[in-house]
Amino acid sequence: MKITVVGAGNVGATCANVIAHRELANEVVLVDIKEGTAEGKSLDMWQTAPINLYDTRMTGSTNDYAKTAGSDVVVITSGLPRKPGMSRDDLISTNAAIVKTVTENAIKYSPDAIFIVVSNPLDVMTYCAYLTAKVDSRKVFGMAGILDTARYRAFLAEALDVSPKDIQAMLLGGHGDTMVPLPRYTTVSGIPVTELISDEKLEAIVQRTKVGGGELVNLMGTSAWYAPGAAAAQMVESIVRDQKRIFPVCAWLNGEYGLKDIYLGVPVKLGKNGIEEIIELQLNDAEMQLLKDSAKAVKEVMDVLDRMNNQNS
Ligand code: NAI
Ligand code: 2OP
Repeated sequence: MKITVVGAGNVGATCANVIAHRELANEVVLVDIKEGTAEGKSLDMWQTAPINLYDTRMTGSTNDYAKTAGSDVVVITSGLPRKPGMSRDDLISTNAAIVKTVTENAIKYSPDAIFIVVSNPLDVMTYCAYLTAKVDSRKVFGMAGILDTARYRAFLAEALDVSPKDIQAMLLGGHGDTMVPLPRYTTVSGIPVTELISDEKLEAIVQRTKVGGGELVNLMGTSAWYAPGAAAAQMVESIVRDQKRIFPVCAWLNGEYGLKDIYLGVPVKLGKNGIEEIIELQLNDAEMQLLKDSAKAVKEVMDVLDRMNNQNS
């Protein structure tokens, strides 16, 4: 297995490091546009191999995509991160140009690769990669839901004073403040979470989850990377090991949930073919309304990208 991670910044380097530690591939190629950054970081990571006892080969490249040839999975993390006061949507024009160029370069050398997009605004950058790659939508999808549910699960573990390992949760919608954590699909070792926590406390955790990215931006002056990098690596693992795990993933909808021609977070089965199934939950009216509101917010930003593309064509 060969994995390319584009963007050797905070998220990309963390993701590559987790992939190597877990020996998810024989080779990881890290690519960045900044001269020497990818080479330096991959060399540094490779020098942890004798300490951490893995043999995944790490190589770096400054924008030379020939080195990525034949990759099975390409993870795109290149692009600007949020700064305090910015929404993810403020990044659209700069990051769309980056994601488009990166996808064009990567697909030229790895036409069969599965693409995982991480760059923000996530749902729209995934759409941008899909429009550029011109491959089956089951092979182009985005990482957000694993991160957002991880935040939700971590907050719950703290509130309940239990192991985060025992908390399972599902979340729908866009990677923004309209995301839809689903208490009805949240359990602690099979016990519905609503039996263990008051409605008020649960609602406070849902609200904190929705702005969880912003909380970290305000603390650090840039966006998070440990959990985002680990979340993208978990998607890689399910694909390369054909685990068929069920995760919330930003996927192209073609009528599921009554939504069409939109990238949005939904539960999917991830395996060696990419998205192998989109799972439709039996939502109640309130949940469905929240999902529709989130879809509307994402569609507005997708339309901005469409208008930008039309102006440039
Ligand atoms: P960063 O600034 O640390 O790293 C970005 C890297 O991309 C830089 O090293 C930069 O040189 C590189 N880059 C820029 N243009 C490039 C190009 N054309 N080709 C190759 N590399 C290029 O940023 P960070 O924190 O790693 O975040 C990366 C992206 O991921 C941001 O857009 C951020 O908003 C997004 N993000 C998404 C999350 C999600 O849940 N989907 C979570 C966290 C971050
Ligand atoms: C996050 O949720 C900003 O998307 C980034 O951490």
